[in-house]
Amino acid sequence: MTPTLIATADPDFAPAAVAELQKAGSQGSDELAPGIWAVQLPGDFFALAERWRQQPPIFVRHICPVQTVLPLAEGVEKVVATAVTFFTHLLEPDWPFSVQTRVLGELPIKPFDINQPLGDKLAEASGAPLDVRRPFQILSVVLAGEAAYLGVSLATNNLSDWAGGVRRFARDKDQVSRAEFKLLEALEVFTIELPPRGRALDLGAAPGGWTRVLRQKEQYVTAVDPAWLHPSLQKDKGVRHLRLTAEEYLADYPDTYDVIVNDMRLDARDSARLMGEYGRYLYPHGLALITLKLPEKRYGAALDHALNILRQHFTIAGARQLFHNRSEVTVYLKPKISS
Ligand SMILES: C[S@@+](CC[C@H](N)C(=O)[O-])C[C@H]1O[C@@H](n2cnc3c(N)ncnc32)[C@H](O)[C@@H]1O
Repeated sequence: MTPTLIATADPDFAPAAVAELQKAGSQGSDELAPGIWAVQLPGDFFALAERWRQQPPIFVRHICPVQTVLPLAEGVEKVVATAVTFFTHLLEPDWPFSVQTRVLGELPIKPFDINQPLGDKLAEASGAPLDVRRPFQILSVVLAGEAAYLGVSLATNNLSDWAGGVRRFARDKDQVSRAEFKLLEALEVFTIELPPRGRALDLGAAPGGWTRVLRQKEQYVTAVDPAWLHPSLQKDKGVRHLRLTAEEYLADYPDTYDVIVNDMRLDARDSARLMGEYGRYLYPHGLALITLKLPEKRYGAALDHALNILRQHFTIAGARQLFHNRSEVTVYLKPKISS
């Protein structure tokens, strides 16, 4: 039976992702590789995609539809030729598209072997322009075992514009920490625009990756961390470093901020409690981001508890386990509108 969709999550959070799929009505799934499932749904892909576009799951990072399954045994050329016939009329000719191929396991094929010929041939046959950077529509191809699973959808249907939710950023020579990618990804995923020349508080800032990203986005940053910041940030006049813990700064009459970010290495619940206390130092138009570090065991209960603590002080505008998150979930918060 043809599966309805392919779903992808971090293998470390597989049980939580499977639970989200079950809640969405999954009638069974086949694990194609760690953290990647072919899923059978009673309804169609687009109904779930629309529900999840409005209210995304936390752990499932990427979904794509399966409209046909082709055998790999006859070779890549045959898959490409059949896919061109099948998908030409399913592409909207005025909208840019791309082909996103993933190869699971040990197969003697590279994504490029499919992306390039299939993209070129489909562009010619359908008239739709090929645009791998900003596609409106995506033909997803997943090669696993002896089969190719293919389906076309809008980029907005897939939870992420990137194949399997793998969002890579170019490394910049002045980068201070890999944690920078986490903040860049969160700003993109939650479509956050920072206020022009805003005042930002960075809790747990050292060595300063998030502070650097905030500075690049024209924020004046108060960085709170007992540890030192990278020398490039120490001489930046737009950065005020307070060598305090977040608890100490809280007791020291903090200022009020447009943006509060918190990447402190603390238990999720302790960090959520502290963040809750900082809620009163966020302007009503402000926004906040926190990474909740999850324990290895019973992480679901710890996450629910931490989210409930945050809900007492903020509106939760989004919560996702991002590609650049390790054992953590990033939560986007807005001030609670009091009635
Ligand atoms: C993952 S690192 C932050 C990385 C940072 N976001 C970056 O981009 O470079 C976690 C930081 O939390 C800090 N931290 C842990 N507990 C803290 C507390 N109670 N108050 C302030 N900082 C704390 C640690 O000193 C450490 O520098």
